[in-house]
Amino acid sequence: MLEHLKEQPADKILMLMQSYREDPRENKVDLGVGVYKDASGNTPVMRAVKAAEKRIWEDQTTKAYTGLAGDPAYTSGMIDLVLSGAAPKERIAAVATPGGTGAIRQGLELIRRAAPDATVWVSAPTWPNHPSIIKFLGMKMGEYRYFDDSTRGVDFSAMMSDLSGISTGDVVLLHGCCHNPTGANLSDAQWDEVIALLKEKGAVPMVDIAYQGFGDGLDADGAATRKVAAAMDECLIAASCSKNFGIYRERTGILMAIARDDKEAKIAQANMNFLNRQNFSFPPDHGARIVSTILGDPTLRADWEAELEEVRLSMLGLRQQLADELRQLSNSDRFDFIAHHRGMFSQIGTTPEKVETMRQNNGIYMVSDSRMNIAGLNAETVPLLARAIVDARV
Ligand code: LMR
Repeated sequence: MLEHLKEQPADKILMLMQSYREDPRENKVDLGVGVYKDASGNTPVMRAVKAAEKRIWEDQTTKAYTGLAGDPAYTSGMIDLVLSGAAPKERIAAVATPGGTGAIRQGLELIRRAAPDATVWVSAPTWPNHPSIIKFLGMKMGEYRYFDDSTRGVDFSAMMSDLSGISTGDVVLLHGCCHNPTGANLSDAQWDEVIALLKEKGAVPMVDIAYQGFGDGLDADGAATRKVAAAMDECLIAASCSKNFGIYRERTGILMAIARDDKEAKIAQANMNFLNRQNFSFPPDHGARIVSTILGDPTLRADWEAELEEVRLSMLGLRQQLADELRQLSNSDRFDFIAHHRGMFSQIGTTPEKVETMRQNNGIYMVSDSRMNIAGLNAETVPLLARAIVDARV
């Protein structure tokens, strides 16, 4: 039986993680996978997470199953964190999922059950796992233009022109903040225009929000998702706690579905519970319990928010330092976009060949589409990267 299996294409982000590990050079720089690193290259466990784990260890008396939707304290805490009252609770169905990827997968499966003929539109480019899961599920997919290779900002007129061609009932996948891989984001006014177009078209938005707190702040990063939730009759939201709580390996995510009314929300909830049951039964609990412990305790929450803000500001500082360095070395302002991008990533917009040159000559590891993880830098490696970019004639 197993001899019938075919080789699988390697995921380009995970493949890069492997080749970085195998590179013996001392001064190599890992700008690949989206994991936050502090100035010494460590991915620390956040203070509030440690404290919450201690509390859980002391207080937890059972590891018996939670519900199929996960622990209600977690789902309601996350609904508040992401939506902050933007939609009435009785219209929201929610399930805990294994990470943000689990939420995307469950959301797409829900769409396939509800509207098997819908096309799911993704930005070009987008996080590679989006198209990969859509194709795996055998769903129809379309792409809307998003990134302008020359300005390294959003090509908004191309985006709107592509979205104006979609059909009623299609689904549009949007990044709630901190677009992955580009780092280029819609302005407030552009979000309004996108929402108006989706309403006019009768399309359903699906928002992927995996970096809340990494861009302009915890609240500001939720603003677009809240706008969508408040304006649309229906929408899906996939959120991740991997990054903002730094609990990557705990696999902690949530899928929310906002329905037209409470009756439809109950049916959506039953379908989401069913999908959890089919795919993995009960969602993982440890990470979810860390999150609900933090969100439910004012002291832990304040400390978590403070540390998240430190993380955000350190990435902004690195962006500015890199943009300044490149301004000097290139004697031009064409890399200023790095300081304007938000979140963990920036796509510098160059060819896979130049990315490969920087890997070979300078030990710089970025994804072949030229996405770099800003958090993989520190004050010492910024000048090395700037030099590599200029030497490769990006
Ligand atoms: C990334 O984009 O690097 C992260 O979301 C990690 C992943 O699973 O790809």
